[in-house]
Amino acid sequence: MPFFVFAYNILVIQMNDFSYKYIYATLFIIIAIVIIDDINLSNRFYENVNLVSNPDSFLTLVNKNNQLSPNYIPIDLELLKNDDDKIIFLRKIVKDQYIKLKNMAKQDGIYINVVSAYRNYDYQANLFNYYVQNKGLSYAKVVSARAGHSELQTGLAIDIEGENKDYDLFHNSSSYLWMIKNAYKYGFILRYPEGKENITGYNFEPWHYRYVGLVEAKTIYDNNLTLEEYYINYW
Ligand code: DAL
Repeated sequence: MPFFVFAYNILVIQMNDFSYKYIYATLFIIIAIVIIDDINLSNRFYENVNLVSNPDSFLTLVNKNNQLSPNYIPIDLELLKNDDDKIIFLRKIVKDQYIKLKNMAKQDGIYINVVSAYRNYDYQANLFNYYVQNKGLSYAKVVSARAGHSELQTGLAIDIEGENKDYDLFHNSSSYLWMIKNAYKYGFILRYPEGKENITGYNFEPWHYRYVGLVEAKTIYDNNLTLEEYYINYW
């Protein structure tokens, strides 16, 4: 920033023609703002990281700047067997709301199956390292959270699949369309939406839903927000 002030002063002092002087100075300011903004955007993730103080809250914000303690385990985890008999752990309210959602989807002829929910710190650490080793760091950073930064450690998030049984194809399924329209009615939000990657820090994840509560999910849905934006505007 001091560099820009210095350069601005030189620019204004050096120019003799009054009108051009102010046109160039204005252009200079605009370019400087764009550059500074860009620097902030590209550097902000994983900077100034806070320890999450309310991990049990349904509205807790866990992301690249808000980290859970390695020892954090949700208070009321319950077991759920998914349709493939895989054992899933998730918080009680999330389980109850997921079952309601799944049943309602079924009545509408739509298939929904949870494939992943609570993950502990060590699991997430191994998963992130797997992506780094197999796909490279740049890829890992936009598809996977570092340990402590995954909201799957809260037990409030679920990854789901539809009738095509494939994450990569979920976006094109009727299950995805149904979830987009109805998930908020059960307290869930699409956590990493398309077009909001610069806010969430992650690629679009059509399969990843997060329980936040009925009222909050409706506000987030109605206003097309991410949880980060909800915090800024409503918290
Ligand atoms: N895939 C999400 C970002 C996670 O790893 O928590």
